[in-house]
Amino acid sequence: MYKIVKKEVLVPNTIYLKAEAPEIAWKARPGQFVILRVDEAGERFPLSLAGWDQDDGTLDILFLIMGRSTMKLSSLKEGDYIMDIVGPLGRPTEIESYGNTLCVCSTFGVGPLIPLIAALKEKGNRVVSIMEARDEAFLFWEDRLRSISDETHIALGDGSRGKHRLASGFVTEHLKSGHKVDRVFAYGRVFMMMECSRATKPFGVKTIVGLTPIMVDGTGMCGCCRVSVGGQTQFTCVEGPEFDGHSVDWELLIKRKRAYLREEAQAFDLWELGNLRRMAGLTELPERTSVV
Ligand SMILES: Cc1cc2nc3c(=O)[nH]c(=O)nc-3n(C[C@H](O)[C@H](O)[C@H](O)COP(=O)(O)OP(=O)(O)OC[C@H]3O[C@@H](n4cnc5c(N)ncnc54)[C@H](O)[C@@H]3O)c2cc1C
Ligand code: FES
Repeated sequence: MYKIVKKEVLVPNTIYLKAEAPEIAWKARPGQFVILRVDEAGERFPLSLAGWDQDDGTLDILFLIMGRSTMKLSSLKEGDYIMDIVGPLGRPTEIESYGNTLCVCSTFGVGPLIPLIAALKEKGNRVVSIMEARDEAFLFWEDRLRSISDETHIALGDGSRGKHRLASGFVTEHLKSGHKVDRVFAYGRVFMMMECSRATKPFGVKTIVGLTPIMVDGTGMCGCCRVSVGGQTQFTCVEGPEFDGHSVDWELLIKRKRAYLREEAQAFDLWELGNLRRMAGLTELPERTSVV
């Protein structure tokens, strides 16, 4: 059992939790994730590590409320326990002295980006970060990103701030205007990662993306998380979650992520009906968010 020591509602559909898990905090590296089960009846689902503290023995996670499992997790309070947390899983990010890096994120993607940027800076890289959000109300951790990046830019979907509505627009302009970029990292919405990969491809800038296919066991046994990269089948849980964005078959990934939408909506509706009152701490009922 893993105790929740801190909970924060970051924006209406995104929650931050700090949980005690010393054995995972000891081994965690940037790019890795955990698989959780909220209670005995819960399904296993993956969340990226947004930070860890070896002294306190704690992990940071942040998640979008998508359906039944994330809604269940969001209903837990400080002092409650998560039944299982398994990890750290997946291959850590390859971190070297690349030179100039662009780190792009949307929604929960800012979580895994924070430890990644810290590690890139330790290796002497220059980091320009770009954060994409629907509008100002869905923007969070901008201050954190600014405090560890050399430069930070914001792209808001409603056009209310910054020049670009999509992060990929910034990436294209940055490269077209002659900035030297040696490596791009993108975490968050599948659509954003796909568009950023398409933006960097003509410039030949290697672009690493953190893929989020459906996962079940997280150990390479069930095959649920398979993706096609460069024409080869890869299991994201053991061979990823990071891959070369220029080689990912994005259409297949999107199709597979949507495969169980009807069943997921049914599971959510059944659970939600009986639990509306347990949504303590949330000011309004969060809306479900598109995964792509
Ligand atoms: C390596 C990895 C890291 C991730 N990190 C984060 C994170 O840090 N924060 C965050 O908000 N989300 C993250 N996700 C996605 C997260 O796992 C799903 O949003 C979550 O499982 C949804 O479950 P649900 O029951 O609430 O929603 P559901 O209604 O069951 O599903 C909604 C959508 O979520 C996706 N999904 C459902 N079940 C899974 C599953 N077992 N594995 C992966 N995707 C699933 C599907 O695309 C589905 O259409 C990550 C996924 C992966 C693979
Ligand atoms: S989640 Fe089962 S093989 Fe990756």
